[in-house]
Amino acid sequence: MNLTIIGTGYVGLVTGTCFAEAGHKVICVDKDADKVKLLQGGGMPIYEPGLEELVQKNVRAGRLQFTSSTQEGVEKSEVVFIAVPTPPMPDGGVDLSFIEGVSREIAGAMNSYKIIVDKSTVPVKTGEKVAETIKRYCKAKVDFDVVSNPEFLREGFAVDDFMKPDRVVIGVLSQRPVPAMKEIYAPYQAPIIVTDINSAELIKHAANSFLALKISYINAVSVLCELSGANVQEVAQGMGMDARIGRKFLDASLGFGGSCFPKDLSAFIRISESMGYDFGLLKEVQKINAEQMNRFVKKISDTLWVIKGKTLGVLGLAFKQNTDDVRMSPAIDLCQRLQKEGARLRVYDPQAMEKAKAILSDVTYVADMNDVAEGCDALVIATEWPQFKKLDLDKVRKNLAHPIIFDGRNLFDVGEMERLGFLYKSIGRGKA
Ligand code: UGA
Repeated sequence: MNLTIIGTGYVGLVTGTCFAEAGHKVICVDKDADKVKLLQGGGMPIYEPGLEELVQKNVRAGRLQFTSSTQEGVEKSEVVFIAVPTPPMPDGGVDLSFIEGVSREIAGAMNSYKIIVDKSTVPVKTGEKVAETIKRYCKAKVDFDVVSNPEFLREGFAVDDFMKPDRVVIGVLSQRPVPAMKEIYAPYQAPIIVTDINSAELIKHAANSFLALKISYINAVSVLCELSGANVQEVAQGMGMDARIGRKFLDASLGFGGSCFPKDLSAFIRISESMGYDFGLLKEVQKINAEQMNRFVKKISDTLWVIKGKTLGVLGLAFKQNTDDVRMSPAIDLCQRLQKEGARLRVYDPQAMEKAKAILSDVTYVADMNDVAEGCDALVIATEWPQFKKLDLDKVRKNLAHPIIFDGRNLFDVGEMERLGFLYKSIGRGKA
């Protein structure tokens, strides 16, 4: 099918590319002419495993093209996906001005029947507003349908998640666009669930908030593990083997971050409030997440006594493994808190150092993970990159002024680290 995707951020670019890979003919539109030029020339604005090769392959095959003209994108396709940002507002609400602006542009460019599909994460009832807006601004005598089709991609695993989705959610105002939507997703052989449009929008916020809740739950349990001398990984395993609970998203950490969970939680709380419901459970999820970081910083200061004047090595800046994304990264938050306490930092991340430079200054960026500890009073692990597990621990111990490691991601075995001579403090494993 001929498909247009408006917005080439993480969601739009992965969606467009994976649609092309499945055989659709795709136009990706972005207002940013420099980004369009970069993509046309085979460049990549983001690091996402496997994406670059797929973009190049599909551009070569003539199935994927980039333009900065919304008009062109809308005219040439029957189905137009909206994948533009929905940034947070200071009060936790959602700024829908990009969605509204794109809806007006689409309305102005419509030359025949169109299905307009929202992929961006939006508050419930946004689809109805999009439909109203298009109706108001469309001058041509053409019909259209609005669909909500939320995305569930994880950064770092986005291509895989798109190609093998657990489910595809299609929220509609009428049944007319359902066959076309089913055809678009037919190549992926995923279960498709068709709902009303408000339910589809709620599914997205409810799913992300539930996953955040799961992380805060295990983080709260990790506190009890420290108080009782238990091991949170064993507790998570024992809980997770119950199929009703599942082991995924039960990794205790220094808290969740990224451009989705913190934003979507705040938004869901605000949306509920605006409809007259106090979603207190989710406020507690936020509180536990904030406290988890406070507890980790306290763990460091309790051990080192005074942070001021100490040099600390930090492994990891991205908000999680497999990405160069540092938006709302717990690792960056941690670095800034340690700096505020007066620490000097030596930092390393396999992918995120360039992006970190824009928000984290006065630190030494180190090119090799095994050199970060050089001359440091302690080493801190802030992101769960798998390669950190292959750290040269002998070298690290020799490089450190004192063999102290704070692990916010539980990457190593406690007993093994103690045998190697480290004072090793992690999350929820034995006494804090
Ligand atoms: C999340 C959802 O997982 C996706 O399904 C959704 O599509 C996406 O948001 C979105 O709304 O766009 P993402 O933000 O890419 O994806 O990252 P996650 O893998 O969910 O991790 C979020 C945060 O939770 C990270 O900081 C991660 O380190 C942390 N986390 C995750 C934990 O602390 N413990 C866990 O067990 C899992």
